[in-house]
Amino acid sequence: MKIGLLGCGVVGSGVYEIISQNMSPMVEDFEVVKGLVKTPEEKILPYMTNDASEIFDNPEIDTIVEAMGGIHPAYEFITRALNAGKNVVTANKAVVAKHLNEFTTLAEVKGVKFMYEASVGGGVPWIKSLRQAMRIDEVTHIGGVFNGTTNLILSEMEEKGLSFDECLKTAQKMGYAEADPTADIDGIDVRNKLIISTSIAVKKQVQAEEIMTYGIRAIAPCDLKYFKSLNKHVRLYAEAVIEDGKYCCRIEPCLFDVDQPEAGIKLNYNICSLYGKTIGTLKYIGQGAGKLPTANAIVQDLLDIDGGNTALPKLCFGGDAQCGMSMLEGCYYVRYSADVADKLEAAFDGVEKTAVEVEGAKAFVTASIPTISLHDRIESAGVGVMDVFVTRI
Ligand code: HSE
Repeated sequence: MKIGLLGCGVVGSGVYEIISQNMSPMVEDFEVVKGLVKTPEEKILPYMTNDASEIFDNPEIDTIVEAMGGIHPAYEFITRALNAGKNVVTANKAVVAKHLNEFTTLAEVKGVKFMYEASVGGGVPWIKSLRQAMRIDEVTHIGGVFNGTTNLILSEMEEKGLSFDECLKTAQKMGYAEADPTADIDGIDVRNKLIISTSIAVKKQVQAEEIMTYGIRAIAPCDLKYFKSLNKHVRLYAEAVIEDGKYCCRIEPCLFDVDQPEAGIKLNYNICSLYGKTIGTLKYIGQGAGKLPTANAIVQDLLDIDGGNTALPKLCFGGDAQCGMSMLEGCYYVRYSADVADKLEAAFDGVEKTAVEVEGAKAFVTASIPTISLHDRIESAGVGVMDVFVTRI
């Protein structure tokens, strides 16, 4: 297999390393012919180029690995590669989440492969496992801790009492965070991963605005202290339920008892789970971010292309499942600053709630309410994003 690599950063260099160092006898026949980098200064190895046409117009290159991230020019490069009859493997969840149906259809028309195992769960073989489960079961629940950066932040703040900013810096230094880490912190990266996972399960391209999303930007030490008193750990949890042709998706901080597997997910690890009628619950744990685990997932896709893995069901994203926003509910911890107490409390008028003691702030826990109602009420309060922090409890 002759490979053209788009992007030689953290993930791309990992792919190059696994292949060029022959880390497995199975990749002996693979060769990274060219690797695209943005600037002349980045051209530090002979295989690197600044000229994309050296990759796209090279008939010897049959497979493109896209490891640049972002929507543009990744979208244009992926469509160009597929149109040129080249297989595409990508780790880029942002572009896959947005164009999954389009890329899948184009690849089929052109008779090539489009694969994206590394886009969700990093090194965890999640997409393949989900598709495998769907050979027998309808998947009715998807859940997971899908972001290494926020997981590192939460687990290190909990365990070592480090600050949010210190932990974020570590995640950036380790190559886990996105170029713009607000995508991690605000749940956007997880949303892309949940779009991909749910789209596969419902056989339809799920849209970003259908996913109720809260991140961890506003978490404070007082929240962690309260959660500790409950003997629980907080994780940024993504979830989709699928029932009777309807689906509902949410991403939000969520508490887990210390002995639940999700509570034990630390640092850059992810947990990805599904439920199907005959298989029951399946949970997969592994490194969800980082150079070699993510590169490993890309090389696994390359091996599947090379070996012609056809035993998985055909993907389709033209189904007619509907989004049902009120299918999910929960009890919520809502912590807010005294400055916004009037507005916030008024927005929750009529909701059964219990005040809780949190150091230096006000907080209550609601009775079970639809998640969409929580979002509507907080939005109607019109408070700043740093003024309120919510967690499902
Ligand atoms: N920024 C992502 C994370 C990288 O922290 O999980 C892997 O998708």
